[in-house]
Amino acid sequence: MAKYLEGKNIAITGAGSGIGKAIALAVAGEGANIVVADYGVTLDGSEPTSEIAESVANEIESMGVQAEAVSGDVSQMQTGFDVVETAIKRWGTIDGVVCVAGILRERMLFNMEEDEWDAVIAVHLKGHFTIYRHAMAAMRKQDTGGSIVGITSGAFTASTAQPNYSAAKGGIVSLTRSAAMTAASISLRGGPQINANCIAPTARTRMSEKVPFEFETGEPDDIAPMAVYLLSDAGRKVNAQIYSVVGRRISVWNQPKEVRSMFASGAAWTPKEIEELLPRTIRQEPNPFIEDLERRMKEMAIEKEE
Ligand SMILES: NC(=O)c1ccc[n+]([C@@H]2O[C@H](COP(=O)([O-])OP(=O)(O)OC[C@H]3O[C@@H](n4cnc5c(N)ncnc54)[C@H](O)[C@@H]3O)[C@@H](O)[C@H]2O)c1
Repeated sequence: MAKYLEGKNIAITGAGSGIGKAIALAVAGEGANIVVADYGVTLDGSEPTSEIAESVANEIESMGVQAEAVSGDVSQMQTGFDVVETAIKRWGTIDGVVCVAGILRERMLFNMEEDEWDAVIAVHLKGHFTIYRHAMAAMRKQDTGGSIVGITSGAFTASTAQPNYSAAKGGIVSLTRSAAMTAASISLRGGPQINANCIAPTARTRMSEKVPFEFETGEPDDIAPMAVYLLSDAGRKVNAQIYSVVGRRISVWNQPKEVRSMFASGAAWTPKEIEELLPRTIRQEPNPFIEDLERRMKEMAIEKEE
């Protein structure tokens, strides 16, 4: 029986450790050649080394498929180009990309420094753009199209200690939906089929070490099958979706849309009319994350960041 991703050429950023490495090994195990893209940095993005990408590429080659290591920084346009071009040069096509590279610089909003903001937005959000941009350009020219997979986080909804990370992950969701719309318009015009989706994983890695795991968690290997599916021909029909994956659970997120409206009786609203009508008509939408925070604050003593 042919393997699930036999003959495909897939690039995976952040493939040097944690979830990215688990996905890379699973994708290789299903017969695909792999571009292992990893800057080989510490959790905060420092001390880069090419050894990490090279060692995973060697491990993958021993599985009987081909691998190339790219050890650049994904926040650089040149690295995005190199990652995609490496697959095309060596194997002729780029059939899928998975953007897993990420770092953390945790700080409350009121204490966050500019460099902490910039670094996290650069690696996560721009690190998706650099890959998506070059992948989409190549995939729209291939008859076989391709698959784009982003990695967001449940924290895209909000995060008190990681506003930079939350903003980047929210940006990745919007960027991926935009890529999905671009993909749909390409195929509606008779072009190749491309899909773009996000996975919001939770797994035990160095990145999640400090998360108090009263929260539901699992292993990096649990995330891989969903990535493999989204990269496959069968998964190509899935587009513009966000799936959470943790342990044995896979959940789909809703699509954002307006839920209630109110209209001014005259030519325009006055603030006073809004004050009177809003609480009785469109109201506020309950925010499950603030409700959850309230619950947890009651349950545990929170260490105050000075
Ligand atoms: N672990 C979790 O529970 C969890 C939860 C939600 C989201 N995520 C996301 O999953 C992804 C992987 O996280 P992980 O837990 O496996 O972390 P990890 O730290 O084990 O892996 C991240 C990898 O990205 C690489 N990297 C960092 N900056 C890079 C750059 N500029 N260019 C190229 N490579 C770079 C690192 O070298 C590392 O190998 C991240 O995007 C993270 O935000 C993880």
